[in-house]
Amino acid sequence: MVIFEELLNKTMGMDAASIGPSMIRRAVSERSAACQCADLATYWDFVSQSPTELQQLIEAVVVPETWFFRDREAFATLARVAVQQWWPAHPEKVLRLLSLPCSTGEEPFTMVMALQDAGLPLSKFRVDAFDISERALVIARRGIYGKNSFRGKDVVFRDRFFEPHEGAHRLSESVRSQVRFEQGNMLHPGFLSGAETYDIIFCRNVLIYFDRPTQERAIALLSRLLAPGGILFVGPSESGLLLSHGFASAKIPLAFAFKKETPAVPVVKAPPREAIVRRPVFVPPVRLGMASRPAVKTVLPQQAAVATSHPLEAATRLADQGRLGEAGVLCAAYMKTHGPSAQVYYLMGLIHDAAGELDEAIGDYRKALYLNPSHHESLLHLAFILEKQGNASGAQVLRNRARRL
Ligand SMILES: C[S@@+](CC[C@H](N)C(=O)[O-])C[C@H]1O[C@@H](n2cnc3c(N)ncnc32)[C@H](O)[C@@H]1O
Repeated sequence: MVIFEELLNKTMGMDAASIGPSMIRRAVSERSAACQCADLATYWDFVSQSPTELQQLIEAVVVPETWFFRDREAFATLARVAVQQWWPAHPEKVLRLLSLPCSTGEEPFTMVMALQDAGLPLSKFRVDAFDISERALVIARRGIYGKNSFRGKDVVFRDRFFEPHEGAHRLSESVRSQVRFEQGNMLHPGFLSGAETYDIIFCRNVLIYFDRPTQERAIALLSRLLAPGGILFVGPSESGLLLSHGFASAKIPLAFAFKKETPAVPVVKAPPREAIVRRPVFVPPVRLGMASRPAVKTVLPQQAAVATSHPLEAATRLADQGRLGEAGVLCAAYMKTHGPSAQVYYLMGLIHDAAGELDEAIGDYRKALYLNPSHHESLLHLAFILEKQGNASGAQVLRNRARRL
């Protein structure tokens, strides 16, 4: 089975540990049976020589999980930046946006809806969207979506941009025509070589499936594709990664937005992720009172700055800047003063998640759900970790719960 894992890693960057070796085993067995191969050795000979079958195997292992307005604040930020900053500064230009990977299209289409809602004329922007999965792109180009694509409580956008279609919803032509979909493997050496740079890039929830060297290659690609002054949005669990690779947080709470560090600013490199993970400054509140508890004064160098805002907002801001230890301490202090709440546990879950401390993150999301069983984001983040750990059925139960909300 290892040779199949290596093939997938070499071709598309997939780290078997990220989805669990059992998922890969199942996909290989299914494809081998579909090709009527007598055994896995025969299937190996076939898949290693047939690009068409390799694509089929890729289709069987990709995780196309996505939905409209996923991590809502990213789209609010996009709309704000485009209309308030970019447009006035570039009245003659067309804003170039990239969704990579776009999966079944919900992400690039959300970009269009957010910009349209904010008042940016359709002639002023254009979205390019790529994914390795042909199957996902077929769905994206069709533009018809079921209820799985509309999650959370606020789906009013559906009434404005969609019309009912055979028990599902069809997206309006004006939104669909703003996006150009194309199949592409972001790890292929020739991917978008020579392309013009993009002002805005969404590259969310894919780096987590790559191993460390592949993540570095992907970040180098994003750095090449992002225009000076442009903004890169990543997924909540991916922000720690960017900070140690030439990007700086755009400091917008819960947007997970980054800019390239400019050479004019002295580059103070964040410690490698391992160092962040092991930095002993974050003591979860359950352990507060122990001798190892950090002195708050020493880990809050900008206490005056954060004291003026809501402590949880300040903690979120620090987490977005990669200052995970400090964010954790603020959460712990907040919980000591105000008592536990679903929101503070959720935030601590995100912080642990970003630091790669998955067991702690699971504990936090579970506590959030104990206090508020309808905490939508905790359900989804917990589902995601369980899936990564190979517990697909546990993840599905949580997703079903989230969907029913
Ligand atoms: C979890 S979805 C993320 C979709 C969207 N960005 C979001 O956050 O909702 C991950 C997508 O990455 C795509 N993918 C995985 N490896 C890829 C690669 N090497 N090049 C391009 N797309 C890839 C998969 O096909 C899948 O659709």
